[in-house]
Amino acid sequence: MHDFRYVGKKLYCEGVALDTLARKFGTPLYVYSQHTLTDHFQKLDRAVAGVEHLICFAVKSNSNRSVLRTLALLGSGFDIVSGGELQRVIEAGGDPQRCVFAGVGKTESEIEIALRKAIYSFNVESEPELERINRIAARLKKIAPVAVRVNPDIAAGTHKKITTGTYENKFGIPFENIEGVYARASRLKNLRLRGLQMHIGSQITTVDPFDRAVRKVVPLVLRLKNKYGLEFFSIGGGSGIVYQHALASGDAAWWKSVQSNNILTPRKYAAQLLPLLQPLGLRILMEPGRFISGNAGVLITRVEYVKRTGRKNFLIVDAAMNDLIRPALYEAYHEIVPLLRKNGARAESDVVGPICESGDSFCHDRPLPKVGEGDYLALMSAGAYGSVMASNYNTRALAAEILVNGRQAAIVRDRQAVKKIWAGEKTAPWLKQHRASRHQSSVTS
Ligand SMILES: Cc1ncc(COP(=O)(O)O)c(C=O)c1O
Repeated sequence: MHDFRYVGKKLYCEGVALDTLARKFGTPLYVYSQHTLTDHFQKLDRAVAGVEHLICFAVKSNSNRSVLRTLALLGSGFDIVSGGELQRVIEAGGDPQRCVFAGVGKTESEIEIALRKAIYSFNVESEPELERINRIAARLKKIAPVAVRVNPDIAAGTHKKITTGTYENKFGIPFENIEGVYARASRLKNLRLRGLQMHIGSQITTVDPFDRAVRKVVPLVLRLKNKYGLEFFSIGGGSGIVYQHALASGDAAWWKSVQSNNILTPRKYAAQLLPLLQPLGLRILMEPGRFISGNAGVLITRVEYVKRTGRKNFLIVDAAMNDLIRPALYEAYHEIVPLLRKNGARAESDVVGPICESGDSFCHDRPLPKVGEGDYLALMSAGAYGSVMASNYNTRALAAEILVNGRQAAIVRDRQAVKKIWAGEKTAPWLKQHRASRHQSSVTS
């Protein structure tokens, strides 16, 4: 469910027509719905009310400070993967004591900051990391709360680049080794063994992989709880969302297809998993990213050219793979719709960006309404792993971001000024004294 829908011919986000935002703020433009973010958080929160729990929003999916603040105000915790994300969360008003710190490569300075800010738990990915955290905690005269990430070797049935819970992946510690690792960790004086964590992958669209992983891990969690007094078990994130027919989500036909296609909803997730988790008698952590932010955002783009070749109808738009890399990176599908609804003929089209890469494409041969230069399109479900993965490739400025709340819309990140892209670059001193000219010979002395 989300808050993007046509009212008459115009596509709206909550009470705001998206074409007015496109005209006022320019494109490419990310637009987020505050109501959708809130609704998704609350739906999950309510669904798992039968266990003591903490939802830690995965900051990596969307780290805009207004998005984080929206969630912080709802009582969300945060799943962070860098010192930078911790600082963002704090800037946004989030509580470090509701933060869990994941990632395979935490640096000494990141660990130190996280210890000083007294985060809830380090989700530890290796034994050398446990030793490093213990050493830094001893130096700071602190006790570090830790959970080890178990790799349960369960295939999540998702894209290989977002599968994390098999032994082919760099994440976590193999299931068979966990008890030995806890035994050794329990002898490290400056650690507190607070929990156990897992995360098997992203965009998982059925409950079954979670079910299999939880069933495998629960006996282990109970043994560790009895031995070391664990306080929590984190099931990680990974709940998938609807990308196809995303615009229709919420209407009767969509709900029917959700039911018949066994698509994951918070209710189904909770109904199947809570009976397995309740007997643990532990606090359950969840780390959803995409589920909360994915359908809460769109990327608006303008058609610059329509280029017809003998074989293809290319809609060349002003957004590119540097703005939204998911299609290029994962062959991901984003529904593409016009901001002004068009009736009538459709044409098989490739929506492509201006970057000099053949991979800079948002779809191939998709039947889309006939649009022309100056028309606006929305790439749906772009709220997760969209703006956060943007780059300055081709010296393209980062897009602006807008948050909508009812009839209000505010800019929550300015469009980057092109000059800012090279603001930190320097001309090497020996290059300064020469005018750039191919006729001048180079002087190296
Ligand atoms: C440890 C961990 N937790 C949570 C998430 C969030 O995943 P998702 O956005 O699929 O919910 C990720 C994503 O990579 C992750 O690595």
